[in-house]
Amino acid sequence: MAGERADAHEPSHLPVMWTQVMDGLRVRRDGRYLDGTFGRGGHARGVLDLLGPQGRLLLMDKDPEAIVVAAEQFGGDERVAVRQGSFAALGAWDLAQEGLDGVLFDLGVSSPQLDVAERGFSFRNDGPLDMRMDPDSGESAAEWLARAPEAEIADVLWTFGEERLSRRIARAIVARRAESPITRTTELAELIASVVPRGDGKIHPATRSFQAIRIHVNRELSDLEAGLAAAQQRLRPGGRLVVISFHSLEDRIVKRFIAERAKAPPGNRRMPIAPALFTPTLLDIGGAQRADEGELDQNVRSRSAVLRVAEKVAA
Ligand SMILES: C[S@@+](CC[C@H](N)C(=O)[O-])C[C@H]1O[C@@H](n2cnc3c(N)ncnc32)[C@H](O)[C@@H]1O
Repeated sequence: MAGERADAHEPSHLPVMWTQVMDGLRVRRDGRYLDGTFGRGGHARGVLDLLGPQGRLLLMDKDPEAIVVAAEQFGGDERVAVRQGSFAALGAWDLAQEGLDGVLFDLGVSSPQLDVAERGFSFRNDGPLDMRMDPDSGESAAEWLARAPEAEIADVLWTFGEERLSRRIARAIVARRAESPITRTTELAELIASVVPRGDGKIHPATRSFQAIRIHVNRELSDLEAGLAAAQQRLRPGGRLVVISFHSLEDRIVKRFIAERAKAPPGNRRMPIAPALFTPTLLDIGGAQRADEGELDQNVRSRSAVLRVAEKVAA
């Protein structure tokens, strides 16, 4: 693949919160598990090591390059099945319809996606402004920025990037595209840097905007909501849902999803809710978990990771 680094198929990516993920999934030797975010298979390998010959591991990823790696590394293992697609659609996979004992979502982008300039995720490496995890589906970042109304661009930067200067950046994008289309990552990064003061210099001025555009282009939050619902539906009683988030908006969705199914909503004087009327469908296992000190020192990515575990309650 043009421009791809030679090591892009290697597991360059340290699996985040590996021990907590394995504890959370509580893998049974004969269980059926689904890893909805294969990436480079760090977590998947851990699950496979714990599975016996009757166990099953279903692997999904939106990214066709991740799927090539999954097929290369695990395709010969009869316990493994691989499918390209969003975990939002996991419920449509016949193998998931047989029921699952555990589902893992390790959200966000993988190191190879960020590192390979041609994928267009990085403001540091010049590449085509793409940012799609699945380059065959939906609009690229360049296509969206070429047609979206200014207010929509500002809204995305504000909502998904918490970018205070969202309107100023959106105005600059619309002014620039009237002269010529914005097609390269560094072109967009430089444009943003030209209208955003550098601040304390800790993060590049385009960091928040790139994150926001990526979340929008990949429909990350709506996929997460659909994926959580599909996972809950396909889990067997006692099955575990494990989600690692890297963004407060993602974690808020996961936290609320679990809380709404684990706890009776607080009543009020006018509408008291009798606890007997609420039947929990999930148990919250351990609340928000963070990486331990050793991992925080070694893996920068783990610093923003929040892991949550829920268990499906028997009907
Ligand atoms: C952080 S990496 C996962 C790393 C993996 N756990 C490992 O150990 O190598 C995230 C991966 O999830 C994929 N992804 C993100 N959202 C997805 C979705 N809605 N459906 C399927 N895959 C998704 C990305 O393409 C990326 O490969």
